[in-house]
Amino acid sequence: MTDTKKPNRQQGDVSVHLQPEQVRAALCAEVAAGLSASPKELSPKWLYDDLGCELFDQITQLDEYYPTRAERSILDSHATEIQRLSAANTLIELGSGTSEKTRLLLTAFRDAQCLNRFVAFDVAEETLRDAVAKIQADYPEAEVTGIVGDFTQDLSVLPTAGTRMVAFLGGTIGNFHAPQRQSFLASLAQILKPGDSLLLGTDLIKDRSRLIAAYDDSAGVTAAFNKNLLSVLNTELHAEFDLDSFTHVALFNEADSCIEMRLRSTCDQQVVIRDLNLKVDFAAGEDLLSEISTKFTLQQVEEEFSVAGFRTLHCWTDPEQDFALWLALR
Ligand code: SAH
Ligand code: AVI
Repeated sequence: MTDTKKPNRQQGDVSVHLQPEQVRAALCAEVAAGLSASPKELSPKWLYDDLGCELFDQITQLDEYYPTRAERSILDSHATEIQRLSAANTLIELGSGTSEKTRLLLTAFRDAQCLNRFVAFDVAEETLRDAVAKIQADYPEAEVTGIVGDFTQDLSVLPTAGTRMVAFLGGTIGNFHAPQRQSFLASLAQILKPGDSLLLGTDLIKDRSRLIAAYDDSAGVTAAFNKNLLSVLNTELHAEFDLDSFTHVALFNEADSCIEMRLRSTCDQQVVIRDLNLKVDFAAGEDLLSEISTKFTLQQVEEEFSVAGFRTLHCWTDPEQDFALWLALR
């Protein structure tokens, strides 16, 4: 059995806690269960192969996609204050991606001579390796490492030394369903010790047409990002999805206050997933839910912190109140 507390292979400054066999086993199990369920659903983590990470990066630069710009503007104005209030010297970033915005925090920590250690944590290995190498080159005074892992199951491998601030940016917390979100926050609270903190980015509820436009952009980048999920299944599991037989759908679920990103079958069809020896029927108009993205009120986030065992220290928003960045203490 694999001991997930010890890295199984160490390459440079990146430790890998997800072996390719484990990733494949998880993909097989999730696809078998998720495509047999009604409604059909897969975890958004499968969106992030190399091309998915590249497409997400393009999304962050779209006019319609405001969250990255809004969160960056908050970090731009308040990184120094965040460093001071957190009193942290170890920055850990979950779902770090390229860690581009995180540089604003790293610079503030460095300027305060408090940047002992930066740990980036992501499921996407190549993107993580690239980010870690670039950040180590630009912040040579810090110890910079990466962890390839799944933040829903591998939080116990996070380093314990120093005063830690865990950053979970971009609104990725919104990609959990409510029960999983609450258990994720509770698990984080459990592994942190008093004095450690959480820096959490949350997207805020707003005008529905702006929300929809952010997830259904005119250049079709988000559609390509969504459909890439089917390419991942074709490549990894020798599935036979015809990408032209599915359309990208983004709608707002009022009851759960979230954007739902779906892949809608344009016809009655049967899709073979060869490696699973599985045939999946799609009716015309039937959807596969590929991601939710929850939009919060400030009050809701405060309540969820309190339930999980965090104390809200400060909340910053951008001038348009599109996005909120929270510092919460354990
Ligand atoms: N934090 C960055 C990137 C957000 S995109 C930003 O604010 O722009 C979401 C990131 O989370 C991707 O890099 C993706 O690979 C990662 N991710 C998604 N699910 C994950 C999981 N279960 N465990 C670890 N990383 C995950
Ligand atoms: C990573 N996550 C916060 C993004 C979001 O907005 O929910 C992923 C995304 N999906 C479509 N566009 C961006």
